[in-house]
Amino acid sequence: MKFCENFFWGGATAAVQCEGAWDADGRGMTRMDVTTGGTVHSPRMVTYVDRDGNRQKAPIRGFRLPEGAHYAVFEDEFYPSHEGIDFYHHYKEDIALLKEMGFKMFRLSVSWSRIYPTGEEDKPNQAGLDFYRNVFLELKKNGIEPLVSIWHFDTPLALEEKYGDWTDRRYIDLYVKYARTLFMEYKGLVKYWLTFNEINNTINLLPEDAPDEVYQEAYQHLHYKFVASAKAVKAGHEIDPENKIGCMICGITYYPGTCDPKDILFHHSKWEKGIFYCGDVQCKGKYPTYTKRLWDEHHVNPDITKEDMEALQKGTVDMYTFSYYMSQAVTTHQNDDIVSGNMSSGVRNQYLTYSDWGWALDPDGLQYYLELMYDRYELPMMVVENGLGAVDALEEDGSIHDSYRIDYCREHIKAMGKAVQNGVNLIGYTAWGCIDLVSASTGEMKKRYGFIYVDKQDDGTGTLERMRKDSFYWYKKVIESNGEDLE
Ligand code: BG6
Repeated sequence: MKFCENFFWGGATAAVQCEGAWDADGRGMTRMDVTTGGTVHSPRMVTYVDRDGNRQKAPIRGFRLPEGAHYAVFEDEFYPSHEGIDFYHHYKEDIALLKEMGFKMFRLSVSWSRIYPTGEEDKPNQAGLDFYRNVFLELKKNGIEPLVSIWHFDTPLALEEKYGDWTDRRYIDLYVKYARTLFMEYKGLVKYWLTFNEINNTINLLPEDAPDEVYQEAYQHLHYKFVASAKAVKAGHEIDPENKIGCMICGITYYPGTCDPKDILFHHSKWEKGIFYCGDVQCKGKYPTYTKRLWDEHHVNPDITKEDMEALQKGTVDMYTFSYYMSQAVTTHQNDDIVSGNMSSGVRNQYLTYSDWGWALDPDGLQYYLELMYDRYELPMMVVENGLGAVDALEEDGSIHDSYRIDYCREHIKAMGKAVQNGVNLIGYTAWGCIDLVSASTGEMKKRYGFIYVDKQDDGTGTLERMRKDSFYWYKKVIESNGEDLE
């Protein structure tokens, strides 16, 4: 098992899950700043004031701001994004720890509303630009290559209040303006970029029987994001031909629940709708052959212009980048043993075990995914998220014995090694939440992914002290040996 020389070993984070400093230095708000904590059984809630001035709360999934309402922060609610793990004020200390592990790459996202607080200013917010410049310089100083997500679940809230959720064409230009600002500002400092984090979640999240209008909106939303992404890729290449820009797909390996041919077809349609559709448009620059069938299933007819199609063609990505946590078995047969995780749901797979949050543990699924996608696109690949969300026990002496996390990562790295042996051009692996951060789906801190423990609890208490887990020392060895020493 040989990973390439210069393989990008590292870790990944996202602004709204770790930065905190939600209202510092001119930053505008994002939806996460009005979203409370939750658990696996109780959803995160969005807080707002309705047209009559009454306080309201609603589950985040599928939320639409009612007419006349506006988003609001309530003093007596807890919003995990407001402090996160305060990366904003701890980044030097955090980067020093990443360096100690030997990181070659660190994935982080820029918060759009730090750069353009309402999304519509003519000039960017200098303090926001300075913050990220300082972070990138600190990374460079420590020999760590930044991998920057331009969008990771955080459209400026002011835009959402005005235009809704990406179903308005004006988003395209606003996003491209923001992306151009980043490419210009950080030219020579940042070379690796991702346009939209897990762009396919828009469709993955929808139940099969959602109303046609919901599908119409989702496919429209996606189309505007595809065009925005393609135009950003083109601008990124023009501004600096050295830039390498990737798509970012939520990678789920789908299996048929049985060998009934009906299940084979059903699972194949899951691949098309949930995974291939977004990858095909972003890597091949055109809508795939099965598009019409997908749209017809839900009587969808998106607004697409000739100019949009040309933009898609001119803005194909340089690499196929994706997250991978789990696989999902799906069936057409009656089966009540439903399991959900990472924006998807299916039926229990008797051959797999599951995490405490119900996510299937399936390293073979990663090998399968890598080989399937490399064969499809023949682009360099990076696994830009992977990891185990688990409860960690902090011992009295400050140690954290997270052997379960080591086992998870070891098996997934082995799976990557097999894919590499089988010819996949894999260039990097950034483990998710390499430092503990707020869970996106539940808002919890106790669902920890890090090699570095952060003393921050679900109720917001904690000293924010950083501590090395056993996995910290293990991952350091993995990196030192370029993936040879996994024990
Ligand atoms: C991915 C997201 O879906 O999964 C991350 O890109 C997220 O933002 C990660 O944190 C893990 O999910 P969760 O819900 O456990 O935080």
